[in-house]
Amino acid sequence: MAQNDHRVILRPLTAGDEHEFLALVAASTDLHRPWMSLPAAPPAFHAYVTRYEGPDEESLLVCRRDTGAIAGLININSIIRGRFQSASLGYAAFAPSTGRGYMSEGLDLVMRHAFERLRLHRLEAQIQPENHASIRLVRRAGFRNEGYSPELLFIDGAWRDHERWAITNAMAGMVPAEPHPTRPER
Ligand SMILES: CC(C)(COP(=O)(O)OP(=O)(O)OC[C@H]1O[C@@H](n2cnc3c(N)ncnc32)[C@H](O)[C@@H]1OP(=O)(O)O)[C@@H](O)C(=O)NCCC(=O)NCCS
Repeated sequence: MAQNDHRVILRPLTAGDEHEFLALVAASTDLHRPWMSLPAAPPAFHAYVTRYEGPDEESLLVCRRDTGAIAGLININSIIRGRFQSASLGYAAFAPSTGRGYMSEGLDLVMRHAFERLRLHRLEAQIQPENHASIRLVRRAGFRNEGYSPELLFIDGAWRDHERWAITNAMAGMVPAEPHPTRPER
């Protein structure tokens, strides 16, 4: 899909998004539980924004092009350079906008950004086997299931087993002309 055909755009999460973001989180409790926990009050929200101001992580809002409304959030976490050139994705739709393909389009834009601009080689998503909507999202985007890790992440009060889904820039057909300068020559 060409970038101009997308109904959504990406923009970084900022402190100015507090009001809309917290209202959407409050409206999305049933959708997010037990998979995702997002900041629900101003202090946690501001700590979250500050966390993503660093160089190793990005928090990107998926916004509707027509209204500007925030439809979802996709975080590029744990960027590792050197021989990895990889990152781990975290994401959530917000209840008013779910089930309309906005997150699929947002994920496509995040893949372009991560592979072509950040020049990462690999994106991973760790997903609990029962989280069918999340598995459908990454499967649609071309990720492959690479395996299963027992007790991988501490979610909703316990260490949870996760499937490990991943896609490389070559699988996505989004390989930059030059690799990132931190990748060794050989
Ligand atoms: C996982 C999650 C982000 C997926 O969000 P989503 O709204 O289903 O994703 P999309 O916006 O891409 O919508 C896709 C759905 O809309 C439907 N759809 C409707 N119109 C569409 C269109 N024009 N284009 C594409 N899909 C469309 C698709 O058929 C699809 O439905 P399906 O999954 O039943 O097949 C969401 O369920 C969520 O926030 N879950 C809780 C948090 C979470 O689990 N995070 C991930 C932890 S690993």
